[in-house]
Amino acid sequence: MHSGCHYQQPIIAQPWFLPSRLVLSLQLHVGAPLKDLNTFHIEARAARLASAGSVSDLIALSRTAEWRSGPRLILGGGSNILFVGDFEGLVVRIALRGIEVVGENEHAVLVRAAAGESWDALVEWTLAAGHPGLENLIRIPGTVGAAPIQNIGAYGLELAERFAELEAFDPQSGEVLRMDRAACRFRYRDSIFKSERRDLIITAVTLRLPKVWKPVVNYKDVLAALQARGQTAPSAADIAAIVAALRAAKLPDPSELGNVGSFFKNPVVSAARHRDLLEKFPGLVGYLQSDGSYKLAAAWLIEQCGWKGRALGPVAVHDKQALVLVNCGGATGEQVLTLSRAIEQSVHSRFAVELEREPVVV
Ligand code: EPU
Repeated sequence: MHSGCHYQQPIIAQPWFLPSRLVLSLQLHVGAPLKDLNTFHIEARAARLASAGSVSDLIALSRTAEWRSGPRLILGGGSNILFVGDFEGLVVRIALRGIEVVGENEHAVLVRAAAGESWDALVEWTLAAGHPGLENLIRIPGTVGAAPIQNIGAYGLELAERFAELEAFDPQSGEVLRMDRAACRFRYRDSIFKSERRDLIITAVTLRLPKVWKPVVNYKDVLAALQARGQTAPSAADIAAIVAALRAAKLPDPSELGNVGSFFKNPVVSAARHRDLLEKFPGLVGYLQSDGSYKLAAAWLIEQCGWKGRALGPVAVHDKQALVLVNCGGATGEQVLTLSRAIEQSVHSRFAVELEREPVVV
């Protein structure tokens, strides 16, 4: 197990050992449809599409002309992406598999999962194996490899709090780097993989799950559900059931109604700004952060502007959670952006608060 010190180091440097047959085993699909590879179900095509089932596949792909000549897009579950047109380059689906316990001491169990595993399946796996700690993050769509990019978080817990380290393929050097928590620079819905190191491809993530488990019950909806159930000493399975039910009640199932979860981040404002806003809008929903700033509920701002449940063409604001935009059928990425801009403008003119989009627009 590693200490909390900041490290970023290569674990394999292997451009030389790659057998050429691996290159031949990779299939490149031309003009591939992406509709079923993004949870918004937006129609778009990739000039080239390949699937990487191993680090060797990634190394082989990184040596192809397709990789070097044009733009590249790394795709996990497609649950945080909005296509606004065809992709004129190479899309690589991350299909690396495997979950295993890789270490243990008296404080924690280390579980390593390959980037292509489903995040929710990993949560279920850890719970079934008797290693609680991820239950508040149950039912979040997407893959394990995508989870660190936006530092997924829900119901009082962020990935960063359970994170040990990750492995990432660096296409420039051909090496796989190991990065600890400090190296990943996790923030609210943010990490180094959204800024300086967008080029890195996460191949595996190792979680640190505490041996002495305590339920995370600081989120008010979770607390209310526990009280309603009369549960004073909940198990991890109880928390998982509560969070799964909360999510099912508010968030649309992408297999039924295309969406990418929250379309906007919750904006963070200074204490002074929060005070001013609260004077003008006594119902304002905001949460004090550890640094003294306030995180405002974007869903409340959007709802106050009258957008909840409203549609613009085939795109609508979800009627149970105003932070979620849904594709009612056949929407284009541009139509989603049109609604998003209209919402941003309303919120800006009423509250003078800037909303920031959450998904990656491609
Ligand atoms: N609210 C409204 N109208 C709504 C929904 C919510 O006014 O339509 C207000 C209520 O006061 C509510 C508060 O906003 O109490 C917070 O709502 P909720 O608990 O649904 O959480 P959220 O802040 O809207 C965030 C995350 C979600 C995550 C939940 C639970 C972001 C951008 N979103 O939403 O994450 O599931 O908290 O932790 O931080 C995602 O990122 O895709 C996602 C779904």
